[in-house]
Amino acid sequence: MIDFSTTYKEFLRAIEDKMLEYVKVIPPVNLYEPFEYLISGGGKRIRPVLAMICCGAVGNDPYIAIDSGVAVEILHNFTLVHDDIMDESRLRRGRDTVHIKWDVPTGILVGDVMVGYAYNLLPKANEHIRSQEIISAFTNGLIEVCEGQAYDMEFNRRIDITIEDYFNMIDKKTAKLLETSAIIGGLTGNGNVEEINALRLYAHNLGIAFQLQDDLLDLTAEQAELGKTIGQDIIEGKKTYMILRAVEKSSIPEDIALLEEFYKNNGLTINYIPKIKEMFERLEIFKVVKEKYESYYNEAQSCLGILKDNEYTQMLNWVVDKLRNRNS
Ligand code: IPE
Ligand code: IPE
Ligand code: MG
Ligand code: MG
Ligand code: MG
Repeated sequence: MIDFSTTYKEFLRAIEDKMLEYVKVIPPVNLYEPFEYLISGGGKRIRPVLAMICCGAVGNDPYIAIDSGVAVEILHNFTLVHDDIMDESRLRRGRDTVHIKWDVPTGILVGDVMVGYAYNLLPKANEHIRSQEIISAFTNGLIEVCEGQAYDMEFNRRIDITIEDYFNMIDKKTAKLLETSAIIGGLTGNGNVEEINALRLYAHNLGIAFQLQDDLLDLTAEQAELGKTIGQDIIEGKKTYMILRAVEKSSIPEDIALLEEFYKNNGLTINYIPKIKEMFERLEIFKVVKEKYESYYNEAQSCLGILKDNEYTQMLNWVVDKLRNRNS
């Protein structure tokens, strides 16, 4: 497979430049300073990159999708600020989260303004023939993420979550925004119905795999690389695929008691994390979740067959392997 690292870096560079030029610290500083802090804090920028590649994949110049791609990235950053408040996370991209560095009201308001900034980057009616579809895809993405996050919160308190519930929740909270990027990229490039549908399906599978892997990394990554607190999902009582499979696979009293403790208290304190890891290792939960996300990543690649073969459809294939080999 061709190595697309150089193209990826060029896209990243253009995206970073665009965002830093767009988000300036102006008055009121207590609003724009945290906004700029968040935007300048890095991240993989997978959503705008995806929008650009998808635009290229339907035969157009990827750079015409940069503004809409950045809109999705800003929307994503909005969800992160609010997610960190909801998950009580202290660390993001290796730095204090906004509500820790400032406070919760600041985090709420910064999130709100970001939604407006994101919309302003989408094409107006006279700027693109597909503008209406682009805007409505964006709005749907926003609504789906909120629904997914609502399920995520609701599940913290419930003890009857099934694997099906989990997949429905991650579809909404994570996969839908990646789908939004792909659809918007395809629409910007004026792709046809079949192309847009293939891109949507590709991003759906990519997104499911991405969240399964995010859950695994939450427990197994190096904190310095991940930039987030290791074990946060255990502390918060998240019913991840790993927890749900551990419930199925546990048989000795110690494991059953540990999982019951997790369910009863809606999570465990940080000192339990080595115990959870030991149990997951022993029950082969890490192996099971890896096999699961690998199958979704493979499925994503197989969705690309109906697209015309050009460098960007090849790059979509390459992106899958880049993501599956990530450690942050
Ligand atoms: C984190 O997203 C939230 C999830 C949907 C798992 P990313 O892993 O894309 O975060 P950044 O933007 O690279 O920091
Ligand atoms: C990400 O879920 C979903 C959204 C931000 C919408 P997580 O809560 O797993 O994301 P991280 O791990 O904090 O980045
Ligand atoms: Mg979180
Ligand atoms: Mg969360
Ligand atoms: Mg996570």
